[in-house]
Amino acid sequence: MFNKLEMAPPDAILGLTDAFKKDTRAEKINLGVGVYKTAENTTPILGAVKAAERLLLESESTKSYLPIPGAAGYCAAVRELLFGAGHEIIANDRAVTAHTPGGTGALRVASDFLHTLYPEKQIWVSNPTWANHNAIFMAAGLTVQPYPYYDYENTCLDFDGMLTTLKIVPEGDIVLLHGCCHNPSGMDPDLDQWKAIAEVVYERNLLPMFDFAYQGFGDGLEEDAAGLRHFCQPGKELLICSSFSKNFGLYNERCGAFTIVGADADGAQKAYSHMKIAIRTNYSNPPSHGAAVAEAILTTPELRQQWEDELAAMRSRIAEMRQSFVDTLARLGVEQDFSFITRQKGMFSFSGLTKDQVNQLREEFAIYIVGSGRINVAGMTPSNMDRLCTAIKAVL
Ligand code: LMR
Repeated sequence: MFNKLEMAPPDAILGLTDAFKKDTRAEKINLGVGVYKTAENTTPILGAVKAAERLLLESESTKSYLPIPGAAGYCAAVRELLFGAGHEIIANDRAVTAHTPGGTGALRVASDFLHTLYPEKQIWVSNPTWANHNAIFMAAGLTVQPYPYYDYENTCLDFDGMLTTLKIVPEGDIVLLHGCCHNPSGMDPDLDQWKAIAEVVYERNLLPMFDFAYQGFGDGLEEDAAGLRHFCQPGKELLICSSFSKNFGLYNERCGAFTIVGADADGAQKAYSHMKIAIRTNYSNPPSHGAAVAEAILTTPELRQQWEDELAAMRSRIAEMRQSFVDTLARLGVEQDFSFITRQKGMFSFSGLTKDQVNQLREEFAIYIVGSGRINVAGMTPSNMDRLCTAIKAVL
């Protein structure tokens, strides 16, 4: 049976990591997958994570199953991070959360939940969006539709195009929004734009679903939640898929969360009962370690401070690399204006490089970039910057 199969294509992002690992050229640079690198080009375990793991090694007493939605303490800590302590949603028990294996696990559970209960609803995603979104939603049986998001020509948000389309989305459909640090463009709405988006979404009775994978990588933990919190209005429903891969550096622990906000506590509990079925039929119950680490950090004041400091250091290193990238290209005499890179947020930017240029960078210079031209700014370092910019100049 299997010999008759056609080979499937490699994954657009993770397939690039495989190819990068096989590349024997010493000077190779990986700006593909969204993984943070220090100036020394390593991805170390955060100090707060190591400290939490030491605590857990002593205190953990069983490896018995977690409940289907994971540990209650972790889920409560996630809700505080999303909404802020004492938020009306928390006070009124309007939100329920499950620990999922990464943000991808959250998206898949959300998709199964939605498709099982509302098979006729479509999900609307930004054009462009994360390379895996469409595949996850379609695998769950959802119909995916695009809304305009990025204006490639003017390197900014296509805000008018976005709103115009959202105004014609059928009532009850789902709209996927990136909470901050839009992947792949790095272009986020400003606060006024978030307000306007929330107005249209709720006016048309759409169900907003946030993919929130980079909290703390844009402007700060609170600042990056500002867009999402515009949607946290009394009586309004929403869904949030969180990832802690990046902001806790817990990539291989698969630590994420799926949160449903109901109109009231009754709606939330009913949704929760269905969420649990979606989890049970996917992976039964989550692995414990990553969430236990995140919970320990979020609820222990010294660890929390250490983590926030480490997160701030990652954020400012990325911002420095954005500026250095633009400055280095200018210093090397590249005339094309790349200043838009400094207006984009988080790990990623759209470089504007074409598929051919991306291929040339890989073949001739051992520089790996996603085919769409998305670059992982967090993979730039002071020591690879000159080589990177020289190569880009050569392919432009
Ligand atoms: C990315 O977009 O590079 C990350 O979210 C990693 C992944 O799983 O694709």
